[in-house]
Amino acid sequence: MDWELQSFHGEELSTHRGSSYNSYLIQEEKNVLIDTVWLPFAEEFVDNLAGKIDLQEIDFIIANHGEVDHSGALPALMRRIPDKPIYCSANAVKSLKGQYHEDWDFRVVRTGDKIDIGNGKEIIFIEMPMLHWPDSMAAYLTGDNILFSNDAFGQHLASENLFNDLVDQDELYYEAMKYYANILNPFNPLLRRKLDEIAALDLPIDIIATSHGVSWRDNPMQIVEKYAEWAGDYQENQITIIYDTMWNGTKRLAEKIAEGVKLGDEEVTVKLCNIAKGDKNDIATEVFRSKAVVMGSPTVSNSILQSVAGFVHLVKGLKFKGKKAAAFGCYGWSGEAVKILNGLMEDAGFEVVNEGYRNQWNPDIDAKRAAVDFGKELAKEFNK
Ligand code: FEO
Repeated sequence: MDWELQSFHGEELSTHRGSSYNSYLIQEEKNVLIDTVWLPFAEEFVDNLAGKIDLQEIDFIIANHGEVDHSGALPALMRRIPDKPIYCSANAVKSLKGQYHEDWDFRVVRTGDKIDIGNGKEIIFIEMPMLHWPDSMAAYLTGDNILFSNDAFGQHLASENLFNDLVDQDELYYEAMKYYANILNPFNPLLRRKLDEIAALDLPIDIIATSHGVSWRDNPMQIVEKYAEWAGDYQENQITIIYDTMWNGTKRLAEKIAEGVKLGDEEVTVKLCNIAKGDKNDIATEVFRSKAVVMGSPTVSNSILQSVAGFVHLVKGLKFKGKKAAAFGCYGWSGEAVKILNGLMEDAGFEVVNEGYRNQWNPDIDAKRAAVDFGKELAKEFNK
């Protein structure tokens, strides 16, 4: 449990509610360890594990995924039990060797391969390539009907309550959605196929045991159904206005455009985000929820502000589909920002619906009125 974690993947992903690295010990006739934890916790993990079981009694390890948050304690563990086999995908051999430069006893498994662990139970492997690494894999325990899904269905959420029915549902679903939007969304087509493939296996699932956050034991299929919805180029009736500003001219435009959007469509949810002050991953999650975005930047150095440029770069990588967009911004003299933003948003996969709205110097009453009208027009365009 990592209550202190505030960012993940370096500084790429904010984790306001901490996280956990979930490792599982199955004790049947065979003792099986599924995954480990992140490197900074390696020694603590191995000591804790040794307090639960004589490490020599572990028959084998399953490495569902080679990323360091799950494999980071493998070197410390393997120093204690160097001859124990590690079951993993072929790609995981590459990633684990590439990271740790160790020649452990790797046993490559493929989808459908099974291992008997005694007491009438088996572990069945399901490869999950590119969900979200080439090496990703899930393991299913028959008898107890537990799907060890690794990153899929997880959340960056630290909690002493280990199961989904024991935590705040709004926090749980927000973190599950943020995780999906910021990590899994680029792989939507693969995810749709994989969800169909798992459904076709027709395995009874009583628990989905994730590698981050809480596990799903209360109606575990609720998160599978939610993933199917999110993988379908998800959107809600929301328009998000995202901007940065230098002397508040572009901020005033953003507020007036928001006013206009609401006047044009009283049903739509409108959110206004200053990308330089807000959290980029929370705002990316708002983009995930939106049917359209309106992005604004003043013109500076014949271009746009780096905060806005960086954010467009981020959402390009997340590969959102089916979302409309428009641009706006204030300028003093050259005024290229709106045109540049239009190009960047198109390149990022948005359907830009018009030329955008720009205003020279600070908006006066007429310019503010025009920005309200621009917002009203967008509300109509975004409903087409
Ligand atoms: Fe939680 Fe892809 O590691």
